[in-house]
Amino acid sequence: MAFTKKKTDSQELPEVLPVHVGFIMDGNGRWAKKRGLPRSLGHIEGGKTFKKIMQYCKDIGIKYASFYVFSTENWKRPQAEIDGIMKIMREYLDEVQMHLGDGVRAIFLGDKTAYPDDIRERMIKLENDTAHHSQLTVLLACNYGGRDEIAYSARQIAEKVKSGELSPEDITEQTIADHLYTAGMPDVDLVIRPSGELRLSNYLIWQCAYAEYYFTNVLWPDFSPEELNKALIDYAGRGRRFGGV
Ligand code: IPE
Ligand code: IPE
Ligand code: MG
Repeated sequence: MAFTKKKTDSQELPEVLPVHVGFIMDGNGRWAKKRGLPRSLGHIEGGKTFKKIMQYCKDIGIKYASFYVFSTENWKRPQAEIDGIMKIMREYLDEVQMHLGDGVRAIFLGDKTAYPDDIRERMIKLENDTAHHSQLTVLLACNYGGRDEIAYSARQIAEKVKSGELSPEDITEQTIADHLYTAGMPDVDLVIRPSGELRLSNYLIWQCAYAEYYFTNVLWPDFSPEELNKALIDYAGRGRRFGGV
């Protein structure tokens, strides 16, 4: 847990801030539909919110912010929508370093092999270029699925058992955690899902085992620092027991 006290324009933040906040950026399509716009415009607007919230997390001293960008299940969507999302990712990856600014480390969670070569190369370059930053770590879940990630961890462990590097008796919860995409990162403390859906949709299912959840009907493009403040205040008032008393 981080203990910080920061003043924002609107209100005072609580003493206890989560170390890792996970954002399920949902509701872009409905935001566009409500305005009679194509879904792709909802994704563009959602991208703007992402930049704003990432900057705000940095300003208030959140150490880890993860964002659900694209799930392993989202490939089921119409090709035109997928192409639109890839276009936004490409543009974003081109200008991202300017937006991230100093102190922000970017890490992608998920299987990068599914992406076109140019996108994958941009992702790897961004990870390498920002690897030395430590003020805020931004975890971008792209082609990410929690079950897929656990299977990935199991495959890597199985390879080590096969080669004799590890024996089955040595496999603990920590071994599995150490082979996830989030190896070395803290578990999620607070998950925020806008858009009114009350589910995790395969997001960081291992890392959210003891997370707190905050749901709001606000659609992601309308999500704001003020909304995040509300979630942080709500979080600070909760009693986390992790099975204890
Ligand atoms: C989230 O918004 C973005 C992605 C899943 C890529 P949606 O596109 O799911 O928006 P809704 O849920 O249809 O409103
Ligand atoms: C979760 O949203 C995935 C992302 C936000 C990237 P979805 O819109 O895909 O989730 P479901 O289908 O409503 O569960
Ligand atoms: Mg959705």
